[in-house]
Amino acid sequence: MVLTDTHTHLYLEEFNEDRDDVIRRAFDAGVEYMLLPNIDNDTVEPMLALCAEYPGHLFPMMGLHPTDVKENFETELQKIKDHLDNGTWYGIGETGIDLYWDKTFAQEQETALRIQIDWAKKYNLPLVIHSRNSFGEIFHIIDDTNDDRLTGVFHCFTGTEAQALKILEYGNFYLGIGGVLTFKNSGLDKVAKNIPLDKMLLETDSPFLAPKPFRGKRNESARLLLIAEKLAEVKNIPVEEVADQTTANAVKLFKFK
Ligand code: NI
Repeated sequence: MVLTDTHTHLYLEEFNEDRDDVIRRAFDAGVEYMLLPNIDNDTVEPMLALCAEYPGHLFPMMGLHPTDVKENFETELQKIKDHLDNGTWYGIGETGIDLYWDKTFAQEQETALRIQIDWAKKYNLPLVIHSRNSFGEIFHIIDDTNDDRLTGVFHCFTGTEAQALKILEYGNFYLGIGGVLTFKNSGLDKVAKNIPLDKMLLETDSPFLAPKPFRGKRNESARLLLIAEKLAEVKNIPVEEVADQTTANAVKLFKFK
């Protein structure tokens, strides 16, 4: 059984004390591949250093996180673009719109998302979208920009069935399913039941969003197994089938092997 954590921030300082143990536990749990979305220009170096330690297993992505879009976002995006031009990357992200924490730079977040969508097309890389209190804004932009070249994932999807179906209608987008699936009363289990497995990716978003029974604690990629087991239960299929299909989906989207 091979699992793929399509969204994990293992380079963050939360893992400074025991990072190699965390990655060993992930391998032990069957998590063979991990995709690392970038956050801002300060996280590029630690992310690349970590990926270099685990070639063939850890893969970096490049983008600017929406909560890090401020008045200087154009300068920051230029630096991100320089990295894109000088490296091997597996996705554009994470990008998106977050109106939960702060709406001050809502307009700038939209502009930054549109720029990163252009890059996804230009560099032929999947887009990793972070959406928080912002489905309307993001759908408006994807409606406007979607074409055959655009692929990606709505990371940590927690929306309704109607929102899930709208995402699938775009054609080349997946739903990223994380620890929220295991939360009581999230309602995500009912949505996930009706979405085809070949449109889903698994992710932890470590160190955030730990699944039950670790809710509120630091998350790590080994806990992807708990999410896979929950999805298997929801869909009433073997966990091996969940692992194999979601890994195949991840390979198809991110082309890491
Ligand atoms: Ni993230």
